[in-house]
Amino acid sequence: MKTWGGRFEGRPDPRAADFGRSIEVDAELALDDIDGSIAHVSGLERAGVVSAAEARTLRAGLAGLRADLEAGTVTWDPALEDVHMNLEFALEARVGPVARKLHTGRSRNDQVSTDLRLWLRRTTDELDARIVGLERALVQLAQRHAGALMPAHTHVQPAQPVLFAHHLLAYVEMLERDRGRLADARRRANVSPLGSGAIAGAGFRLDREAVAAELGFDGVTHNSIDASGDRDFVAETLAGVALAMVHLSRLAEELVWWSNPRFGFVRLSDAFSTGSSMLPNKRNPDPAELVRGRAPRVIGNVTGILAMLKGLPLGYQRDLQEDKAPLFESCAILRGSLEVMAGAIGELEVDEARMAEAAGEGFITAVAVADRLVERGVAFRAAHHVVGALVRAAEARRAQLDELTDEEIATALGESDDEAALALAQDPAAGADLRSQATPIAAIGRADVIGGTAPARVAAELAAAAARLGIA
Ligand code: ARG
Repeated sequence: MKTWGGRFEGRPDPRAADFGRSIEVDAELALDDIDGSIAHVSGLERAGVVSAAEARTLRAGLAGLRADLEAGTVTWDPALEDVHMNLEFALEARVGPVARKLHTGRSRNDQVSTDLRLWLRRTTDELDARIVGLERALVQLAQRHAGALMPAHTHVQPAQPVLFAHHLLAYVEMLERDRGRLADARRRANVSPLGSGAIAGAGFRLDREAVAAELGFDGVTHNSIDASGDRDFVAETLAGVALAMVHLSRLAEELVWWSNPRFGFVRLSDAFSTGSSMLPNKRNPDPAELVRGRAPRVIGNVTGILAMLKGLPLGYQRDLQEDKAPLFESCAILRGSLEVMAGAIGELEVDEARMAEAAGEGFITAVAVADRLVERGVAFRAAHHVVGALVRAAEARRAQLDELTDEEIATALGESDDEAALALAQDPAAGADLRSQATPIAAIGRADVIGGTAPARVAAELAAAAARLGIA
């Protein structure tokens, strides 16, 4: 017997019933549904809809159902459509006909929105803790290799030397923004729609604010039409989850490259690598590849939600039932990705010598040499040109910039149209001065600005991050 069956003479077509069923997905909301119902009982009691004794019976029955859920002894009846109907029938089986009063002044429309907000609140809290876990792993890796140099790339070409810790802290910045976005979405989601009813507002004087407070909401929604059909909080959370996955995917991509023997910067531990079924030599970064490979599903999910919402008139539409699978899937993917990345980063072996060697290749200290010329009075555009000539000279004889001779340096300076450069061409100390700036250590020392890679700046940021994350 359908709860809403009174109006109908015919029975639902099994195909339509099958098509509309959501219990397989929304069973995930069962505990939240119980919490919402217990608070709703308080609202009904205070409004005089149920007596104190009835409220006690309903609360005890719902608490019993929760215990059964936690014990895993509840079985779902597919004929009952969704989690809300299943739990209402289970309650009736437990406490008798008084259960039929529970749904007074409530629609599944405000009920499911309440459940989903409660679910989202606890899930974003859990995700936040896992983001912090990955941040900690990154900071600890940076601390273990605080002095390690590496080449930073733009256009995937060697660009400038940086500290490895500086690179790792870039991800910490990204992850902190992810935390902020999820917290922001959570704050807006954390208001109670209960009492909005189907669309116009409950027909009983429910003390919505007291019910909201009982559920730990920060307040109540203020328009029943909006509240009963609003899923902004799902879209916002999914957008935050998608961006977090984009960040993890970029980290994954770097781990894939860095662990390639041609780079040889890192080695993923055995526990986070996989072998090949055919090639005995292989050591594959599968966990990182799967993070990269699942990010697009999460991106697709946020797109799907937005596309679903854009065509809806106000109020609840059954389309909204389709919000759950993408929300649950995206959060599960992010949770798993955070865990596997924290594990892989925690056990990452770093080859500092190989990274330092790479930081000495590709003339990546060139701009440091040009900056030194600027300090000696040369205009930057002219200095850029002179150092370009030095790079050409070094490349021609397979030398590094700090291996150029005084003569080679004087020749490049002497070809400049800059007066200060021409004067330096005559200065016998100029060659040594410029060579001294061409080492990676000298180059990183120059980037002595807030957010720059100079060792003292990175040490300060690392200490601040460690303090924020509660790491000694
Ligand atoms: N299971 C539905 C959902 O998740 C709630 C049911 C509301 N259905 C309705 N016909 N008013 O959206």
